[in-house]
Amino acid sequence: MIHYDSRTDVFHLSNELVSYGFFLYRGLYPVHLYWGDRLSSIIPEHLYTPLIRSFSAYMGKDDFEFSLDFLPREFACFGHPDLRIPALEVLYPDGSSISNLTYKGHKILEGKPELQGLPATYVEKKEEASTLCLILRDDVWGLQVELLYTIYAKRRVITRSARYINRGKEPFYLKRALSMSIDFKESDFDGIHLPGSWGRERMIERSSLSQGLQVVESRRGASSHQHNPFFALADKDATEDYGRVFGFSLVYSGNFAACTEVDQYSNTRFTMGINPLDFSWRLSPGETFQTPEVVMVYSPEGLGDMSRTFHTLYRQRLCRGTYRDKERPVLLNNWEATYFDFDESSLLEIAEQASKVGVELFVLDDGWFGRRNDDGSSLGDWYVNQDKLPGGLAKLADSVKEKGLRFGLWFEPEMVSPDSDLYRKHPDWCIHVPHRARYESRRQLVLDIGRQEVREYIMSRMIRILDEVPVSYIKWDMNRHITESGSAGLPADRQRETSHRYMLGLYAMLEELTSRYPDILFESCSGGGGRFDPGLLYYMPQVWTSDNSDAVSRLKIQYGTSLVYPLITMGAHVSAVPNHQVGRWTPLTTRGHVAMSGNLGYELDLSQCSSRELACIQEQIAFYKKVRPLVQFGDFYRLCNPFEDNQAAWMMVSPDKKETLVFWCQMMAQANAAVRKIRLKGLDPSCQYCDELQNISYAGDELLNYGLLIPPVHKDFISRIWHFRAVS
Ligand code: DGJ
Repeated sequence: MIHYDSRTDVFHLSNELVSYGFFLYRGLYPVHLYWGDRLSSIIPEHLYTPLIRSFSAYMGKDDFEFSLDFLPREFACFGHPDLRIPALEVLYPDGSSISNLTYKGHKILEGKPELQGLPATYVEKKEEASTLCLILRDDVWGLQVELLYTIYAKRRVITRSARYINRGKEPFYLKRALSMSIDFKESDFDGIHLPGSWGRERMIERSSLSQGLQVVESRRGASSHQHNPFFALADKDATEDYGRVFGFSLVYSGNFAACTEVDQYSNTRFTMGINPLDFSWRLSPGETFQTPEVVMVYSPEGLGDMSRTFHTLYRQRLCRGTYRDKERPVLLNNWEATYFDFDESSLLEIAEQASKVGVELFVLDDGWFGRRNDDGSSLGDWYVNQDKLPGGLAKLADSVKEKGLRFGLWFEPEMVSPDSDLYRKHPDWCIHVPHRARYESRRQLVLDIGRQEVREYIMSRMIRILDEVPVSYIKWDMNRHITESGSAGLPADRQRETSHRYMLGLYAMLEELTSRYPDILFESCSGGGGRFDPGLLYYMPQVWTSDNSDAVSRLKIQYGTSLVYPLITMGAHVSAVPNHQVGRWTPLTTRGHVAMSGNLGYELDLSQCSSRELACIQEQIAFYKKVRPLVQFGDFYRLCNPFEDNQAAWMMVSPDKKETLVFWCQMMAQANAAVRKIRLKGLDPSCQYCDELQNISYAGDELLNYGLLIPPVHKDFISRIWHFRAVS
């Protein structure tokens, strides 16, 4: 899949679907030539025109064509003629920061190497991918940069990352150490990204690029609610099913930056990686710094195809462990049912009802430890609260098991409450800066898990509990962003390493726990979906999508999330009405339908539900169990966009196209409304499909070309589903 032509100095990465190519300009500088549908050959003379540009410094005496300032580069560093946004900036011992990286060699490997200490996509067999390691060096201070490119077979996926190595004699500081850069010789793109906020995560934004720099970033110590480590460049006329889209997704859970710069000549440079703001890394002789990976997806068929490519890759070759290919349990979480106000008997009452309606897993959320009766104390004191649970967790878990349910438990391991025994004993274990205030958020501070002793303590407490209590699920929460970033464990010149060391510490803890307890299902959470990123999916194959459990809000949240992440990763719960976050009343059927478009769960007090509600919930769960493989492992197609319309619709199709579940929801009812028609996608036109819920048959070609008719419904927040099976 990777071919190097020594005659033309061209590197061509290709499979039957895509090509990616660059060549060595003057045998020295990697120059980008092509990324898109497969080409049989890459010929530099056809894909690159030598130019002379005024006002650009050139690199040989009167050699006006030779300037990095306008070459489409494969990896950009600053200063030596190129004045566009760089991927790299180093502070060298003489105070300079110019690097001149030139080609020194390359290696082509079968398969895909692991990235040390970092999550990344992987292969199970070497034949699944090939990797190019392109070696560049700056001889002045001995900086070596190794660019890693992996191309997967049979997928439109290329991954990139960089390794920075000090081959010199003196330490220097990486100030900006991004994972990749790429230059497109065009700028007629829309940029698409997923901004948001708590309770409003991953809202889709699309706008056209213009000359200058656009940055999508997190500076919050977490990938964040506010932005997601994803950016796409799409043809201006690209739609859900048409046009070129180039998607970039960073496998990282901390501060990140995705920078898009359109230059004076209408070229577009895109770079992505760890946010350079508040970052610096001292690299001593012989040391290596590995950057996180960027997963790059090319789609010639619009956003839908881009999403499905991300979905299958992330489901099959990012998520790991026992649960990667297993159906996920229907759970009941007590958070919105009780908040902190529970005891053993109230929990067991809910569990009793849960088991009757078909729930499979009971999750005990926040409030079971220390003296935690509100959010003001006890994070870090991972000892059971004997007042609430006098028999301890093991007794509660056993009673839950006796009711036929598995037992799950909430932790927030990365945090400490100032009002906790842990903080009183180790006030320097939190992230802080001497002589500066430690401002609280949700009355808590962040533990400095970049430090080994801090990690070891927290891990020892968790392991103690997990060895004693039959826990089969963990909700791993994180409810505060990092401010006053600094570490008591680092010298002054390494303080700016704190945030990345925090991430490495978090990944190390998760690696240890998930290998030690391979049968525990982990769900990550950060005030809902504040860390819905590929980095955490590597360890925890599902995420609590948002603290906003309102079905109507969830239409946009889940639709936006699906741009990158598969449904099997999205926790979606039915909660009580009026909804606790927005106060809206929605029908129980709509709440069920929306939550079924993910990992179905319930988050309400079932012991307070009427018998009619319980019967409806029981039916929902029974139906969900029937369609669960389709939802969790099927192909996902978006049909109507709730960001542009008063309705949302989507569908899941089984890989053999024999079964599909279609979902539609109307937001506000309208007087004298039009009849709606939704055209289905992904089906076999030659099959006959029967809707098992209404017992009506349709031809596949009719569903694809004409669609389903939906007469006006005079009710707000009404939803419908269709469950089709091929009958011939
Ligand atoms: C924030 C989470 O998103 C909620 O689901 C819940 O677990 C609370 N934390 C508990 O404090």
